[in-house]
Amino acid sequence: MTESRQIHLVRRPNGVPVDADFAVVAVNTPDAGEGEVQLETVLMSVDPYMRPRLNADQPLDRPLLGGGIARVAQSRHAGFREGDLVRHGAGMQERFVSDGRGLLVLKPDPDLPLTVYMHALGGTGITAYGGLLEVGALKDGEQVFVSTAGGAVGSVVAQIAKLKGCYVVGSTGSDDKAAWLRDVAGLDAVINYKTSDLAPALEAATPKGIDVYFENVGGAHLDAALPRMNVRGRIPVCGMISTYNGGGEGVRNLFNLIYGRVRMEGFVASDFPHLRERFETDMTAWLKSGQIKYQETVLDGFERAPEALIGLFEGRNAGKMLVRVRD
Ligand SMILES: NC(=O)c1ccc[n+]([C@@H]2O[C@H](COP(=O)([O-])OP(=O)(O)OC[C@H]3O[C@@H](n4cnc5c(N)ncnc54)[C@H](OP(=O)(O)O)[C@@H]3O)[C@@H](O)[C@H]2O)c1
Repeated sequence: MTESRQIHLVRRPNGVPVDADFAVVAVNTPDAGEGEVQLETVLMSVDPYMRPRLNADQPLDRPLLGGGIARVAQSRHAGFREGDLVRHGAGMQERFVSDGRGLLVLKPDPDLPLTVYMHALGGTGITAYGGLLEVGALKDGEQVFVSTAGGAVGSVVAQIAKLKGCYVVGSTGSDDKAAWLRDVAGLDAVINYKTSDLAPALEAATPKGIDVYFENVGGAHLDAALPRMNVRGRIPVCGMISTYNGGGEGVRNLFNLIYGRVRMEGFVASDFPHLRERFETDMTAWLKSGQIKYQETVLDGFERAPEALIGLFEGRNAGKMLVRVRD
C-alpha cells in the first residue's frame, strides 16, 4: 500500500471552472497483485477537451479523466518491467494499479526530452498532422489560417504548413505568443485577436484568401474566416474552445460554404492510426532538425492540475500545458 493522491471533480462548473470545483484527495494505492503493475505518474496532459466533459461525462468524486506518462513502480505482469515508461489514459492519479490494458510502453528517443511525447510526438501532434494533411488535404503552397496558433495543436499545424511551403497566418491572444510565432516559428502574419478587430485584420492578412482554415476556436474566429475562404477551401474542425465554457457568439457567415463549395469536417485524434508510423518518423526528424519548434508550459506539482486546466481558458499556456509530478 502506498500513499497517493487523486484530482476529483467535486461539483460541475458554471462557466469557466474555478478551484472550488476540484479537490485533491488523499488515497492509498494497493500494491500490484498477480498480473498487475503499480504505476507512478510522471507527466499529466492538460487539455481543452476536458472542460466539456465536466458538464456530464466526468463522474463526480472520481479521478479526472485524462492521459499522461507514468513509470512502472512495481510489476507482477509479464509485459512490463519496473522502470518502464508507459502512456496511459487512467486519469489524474499520482499512483494507480493496472492490469496492463490501455498501457502503451514508451521508448523515448534519448535525443529528445520526454515532454515532447506529451505534445508534438503525442496526441496534439498527431491531431495537427492528421487534421491538416488528411482532413484539410493541404497542398504545397496553399494559403492557411490557424487559430490558437500559439497552442499545442496550433503551433504544430502552423509549422507543418510552413514546411509545405504555404503562406501561414495565425491568431493568438498575447503579444508574447505572437512574437514567438513570427520570429521563431516563421509565420507570415500573426493577429492578436484580443487587441485587434479580428475580421478586418484577417482580411488584411489574407490578400489571396484562405484555402485551409484549421479551426480551433469557433465563434468569432469562424465567422471571420468564412468570408475569406477560397473556392474548394477546407475547414478541418479540430476544436471550438471559445464555446467550451458555454455562451459564446453565434456564427452568421456559414452561407459562405455554399458558393465557395467549402468543406467543413470534424475529426478526432484517434482517427489517424494509419498515419501513426509516418507521423512518428516525420515528427521525430522535424524535431531533431529543429524544423518544428515548440513551447511548453510545465507546472510542477500534482496538485496544480486544476490550476493548469483553468489556465487553458485564460491563455496562460504557451504551447502545451503539462503538469510534472516527478522526474
Ligand atoms: N479533435 C481532437 O481530437 C483534438 C485534440 C486536441 C485538441 N483539440 C482542440 O484543439 C484546440 C487547441 O487545443 P490544444 O490542446 O492545442 O490547446 P492550446 O491551444 O495549447 O491551449 C488552449 C489555448 O486556447 C486559447 N483560448 C482559450 N480560450 C479561448 C477563447 N475563448 N477564444 C480564443 N482562444 C482561446 C488560449 O490561447 P490564446 O492565448 O491564443 O487565447 C489557450 O492557451 C482546442 O479547441 C481543442 O479542443 C482537438
